[in-house]
Order: sequence, then structure tokens, then C-alpha cells
Amino acid sequence: MAKKILVTGGTGYIGSHTVVELQQAGYEVIIVDNLSNSNADVIEGITAITGQRPAFENQDCTDRKALKAVFDKHPGIDGMIHFAASKAVGESVQKPLVYYRNNIVSLLNLLELMPEHNVKGIVFSSSCTVYGEPDRNPIDENAPIKPATSPYGNTKQINEEIIQDFVHSGAPIKSIILRYFNPIGAHPSAKIGELPLGVPQNLVPYITQTGIGIRERLSVFGDDYDTPDGSCIRDFINVVDLAKAHVIAIERMLQDKSDEKVEIFNLGTGKGLSVLELIRVFEKVTGHPLNYKIVGRREGDIEQIWADPQKANNVLGWTARETIEDTMASAWKWQLHLREKNIM
Ligand code: NAD
Ligand code: WQD
Repeated sequence: MAKKILVTGGTGYIGSHTVVELQQAGYEVIIVDNLSNSNADVIEGITAITGQRPAFENQDCTDRKALKAVFDKHPGIDGMIHFAASKAVGESVQKPLVYYRNNIVSLLNLLELMPEHNVKGIVFSSSCTVYGEPDRNPIDENAPIKPATSPYGNTKQINEEIIQDFVHSGAPIKSIILRYFNPIGAHPSAKIGELPLGVPQNLVPYITQTGIGIRERLSVFGDDYDTPDGSCIRDFINVVDLAKAHVIAIERMLQDKSDEKVEIFNLGTGKGLSVLELIRVFEKVTGHPLNYKIVGRREGDIEQIWADPQKANNVLGWTARETIEDTMASAWKWQLHLREKNIM
């Protein structure tokens, strides 16, 4: 019988790509999402790709009663992947309590319910934001965690600690914490992708929206950093590559392949690319120049960070495969799809 995986935030950007990979690997998926940052049409996209409709529960993970009802309705959940969270860094500075409540209460509820329902493992979406400004690059999992610079970043640090403390208290569960670098791109089918609400804060949606004319011009935040071309450097990781790592992580936990009860992995390519270099890649794959202007630095930005992904390469047997060209082409194809369907 297929193993059952509960995916919170499964209609979101990374969640939806992971649901596809889970279904294609033979898992049965139950999505819990309150649609606060996604919409139910994503289910149609997933179903169109895989030919299987995932179960969908429109529930809020901060509502313990509602979550318990989901576990009761779907008995025999084997593992869980917890994506559901609020993720806008700037908004978290304006509304810290909203972020602390949503991101922390959701995890507490899930952890409390896991043993009661015999769920063996949880994969948690963490972020390279926990490293702050690295002392050196590439950065590995043993690097120090730096004081958080936003309530959002702090929720990731606190959630990592909550998981560690709970598992090490003897709770009958395991966990894999995945620290994503900068996920970008979309499914090659262009049936699912990133759906930013309002003005995008992240670079790639801003680039593609500028490319298609929704935004007039991209502002590049700073060209006076201590990097070869002066713009910031990031490790841009293809979202489908990223999604695949979750399937491996779930398998690893459910098959009890590790003696460690909590494992942490960086998910990145291991290569740093600057903002200006990424713009060049976009121009190359679309064949059009992008309208952009260098402006001042954005407060709180990290100068440069890229992953040392060797632990994930060696232990999980996972490596980022997609080229940056194919990844940017997939982001563009998705933007064209949104235009064609009059979504954006
Ligand atoms: P997303 O906003 O697209 O997806 C999150 C989903 O969770 C949305 O569908 C939203 O409706 C849902 N959700 C939020 N709060 C909920 C709640 N209380 N109950 C039920 N559903 C809820 O974000 P994403 O980019 O797919 O990110 C997924 C996870 O990965 C998040 O935890 C995020 O912090 C983390 N992460 C994202 C990035 C990134 O750059 N996208 C980088 C590092 C880590
Ligand atoms: C990338 C680079 C900007 C927009 C954020 C979160 C982090 C993690 C990933 C969740 C930076 C520059 C951007 C624009 C620009 N998320 N930029 N013009 O800042 O690396 O990380 O998402 O955990 O926590 O902070 O990603 O896409 O916002 O920016 O020049 O309009 O692009 O300055 O150098 P970032 P980003």
C-alpha cells in the first residue's frame, strides 16, 4: 500500500512541486493549506501533471482541533512535510506577532499531534537565513547560527530548536531539517509555479514580471558590494531539484536509514551567482534585454552566500541537476503561462 504523506502548505510554491514529486514516486498525498498565500487551482495543475488528485484539506495549521480532524479523517499518515508558514521578511518586521503565531503555533500543533497519530517523521522547511552574513563561503551546516535579522528568520531558528528539543526529549519521531538557499524557477510543464501576491519582493518573479511588462523596471539593490561585479551573490536552486530532495528525505526517515534522530541539510547548488549575472542569464534565454536600474542597497540584505551542499550530496545522494539557463527558462515559461491564462 502506498505510504501516506501529509504536506502542509502543499498548494504553495515549493509545496506544490514537492507534491508532484511525491506522487510520481508513488506516495499518497494529503495537502493541508489555508490558501492564505496560494489558491485551489494549484490542485488542478498538480493533477494535470501527475494524473492523480491529491486529497486537499482547506485548514489552518494554527487550529489544533481542525488539524486533529484531518488526522482522524486520514488515518495512517506515515510522514509529514511542513511547508506552511508566512514567509515575507519585510512584512514580518511590520507584523511580528502574526509571524510568530503562524509559524510557531503551526509547528507546535503538528508536533503535538504526531505521536498521538503514530506519525514517524517530519521534514521541516528551514532557510539559509539562519546563517545570516556568512564568515566565509561556501557555508556548511556546522557554521554558526547568527542572530536573526527579522522575525521571519527568527521563526526558522526557533522552529529548528523546538524540533531538536522535542526529538531529543525522547519523542517517538525523527526529523530532517532542510535549509533552502534561493529557490527559483517552475515545473517544466508550466502547470505550476510561483504565484506572488502583489508586488514581488523576490528577485526572479520581479525579473519575469518586468520582462513581460507588468513592472516597468527592476531595481537592482546595490552594485557597491565587495563582490566581483558589486551586486549581491546568492545560490539559486531550481525548485524541482529542491522538491526531489524532500522525497529522498521522507524515504530516509520512513526507512529509518539514519541513526541520527534529527539531521540538517543545506539544499543549494554550491555555486554563487550575482544578481547581475542572473539578469544576463535571463536576457540570454529570452533573447530580450531587461529594463533595470542600479539603486541603493536594500536594508538587511546579505552580501554573499552560497551553500556547501556536500552533506546532502553524500548522505542523501541528492545533487542539484538543472542548469541555471533551464531554470530561468522555466520561470519565463511560467510567466508566459500566467499571461496566456490572464492570471497575471
Ligand atoms: P508559499 O507561501 O508559496 O507556500 C506556503 C503555503 O503555506 C501557502 O500555500 C500558504 O497558503 C500556506 N500556509 C501559510 N500559513 C498556513 C497555515 N497557518 N495553515 C495552513 N496553510 C498555511 O511559500 P514557499 O516559498 O512555498 O515556502 C514554503 C516553505 O519554505 C516556508 O516554510 C518558507 O518559509 C520556506 N522557505 C522558502 C524559501 C523561498 O525563498 N521561497 C526559502 C527558504 C525557506
Ligand atoms: C535576492 C537578491 C536582493 C529583488 C529572501 C529571504 C530569505 C529566503 C530567500 C526564506 C538580493 C536582490 C531582489 C529586487 C534586487 N527566504 N534583489 N531587486 O534576499 O536572498 O532572501 O528569500 O527563507 O530568508 O530573505 O532573496 O530574491 O529577495 O533577493 O536587486 O527587486 O536580489 O537585493 O541581493 P534573498 P531575494
